[in-house]
Amino acid sequence: MSELSVEHLLGIKYLKPNDIDVIFKTADHFKEVINRPIKKVPSLRDITIANLFFENSTRTKLSFELAEKRLSADVINFSANQSSVKKGETLIDTVNNILAMKVDIVVMRHGNVGAGVFLSKHVNAKIINAGDGTHEHPTQALLDSYSIREKLGTVKGKKIVIIGDVLHSRVALSNIFALQLQGAEVKVCGPTTLIPKYISSLGVQVETDLKKALEWCDVANVLRVQHERMDIKYFPSTREYTQLFGINQEILDNLGKKIVIMHPGPINRGVEITSDVADSNDSIILNQVENGVAVRMAVIYLLAQQIKR
Ligand code: CP
Repeated sequence: MSELSVEHLLGIKYLKPNDIDVIFKTADHFKEVINRPIKKVPSLRDITIANLFFENSTRTKLSFELAEKRLSADVINFSANQSSVKKGETLIDTVNNILAMKVDIVVMRHGNVGAGVFLSKHVNAKIINAGDGTHEHPTQALLDSYSIREKLGTVKGKKIVIIGDVLHSRVALSNIFALQLQGAEVKVCGPTTLIPKYISSLGVQVETDLKKALEWCDVANVLRVQHERMDIKYFPSTREYTQLFGINQEILDNLGKKIVIMHPGPINRGVEITSDVADSNDSIILNQVENGVAVRMAVIYLLAQQIKR
């Protein structure tokens, strides 16, 4: 099968293993395209895409916009904080007004869990979830797995530990679903206050000892401490968090083996990861960003093929 089994990309939990294979094979092609002197293909000249960001973003927003432009789609951008949302306009009214301008695909980041699913039931456009609250961030998980596959040859059978603020992370949940679909083993590591209670029901083991977690894994995906989502104190101090769960070069040197270091960004340098580790040869953080464009081109291209003209 060379087509997606889904009509929208709302979350990794709706995908089948073949969907990930199809996306990655398509992304392989687009990665070659974006490394050509002329980085653009005419594939989506008849498609219009709206990027709706109700929450802040640097990587995801720019990566989607670049992916859309590399595919020759027409692109419009919307940031909630500069819009009529500030005057009280609802999500459905906002989107229906944008769709009246003949938009085919909506890429949306929203603070509310399930915002993409809600939208997909109420508007006539393809929806791509660019992050919904603390729920899912499917294209981040796809680009993360794609980057592991590129670095290690395969995701199947690899041991990946997701470290840090799992509770507030949409990256963690999407990564767990994506990695398991591809046959990887997943553990999480962090303070128990930042590990959701439901995590074991997903077949994910919890390791609270950072050294043991790093000794076990092939890949460490380090999460940002999301201070802006914390309404209470989840750990005594940032200093203590860093001492217990921060990744530094000394810990890695003492492992006696090399592991791959990932981070979805933005990084709190010196909190969850030191600069020397983030910028080291073991880090694939900027490869993740580069691969994000090819993976998003693949997702957009595959969904656009389903649009009947
Ligand atoms: N990784 C990620 O989602 O980064 P942004 O919030 O900058 O988009």
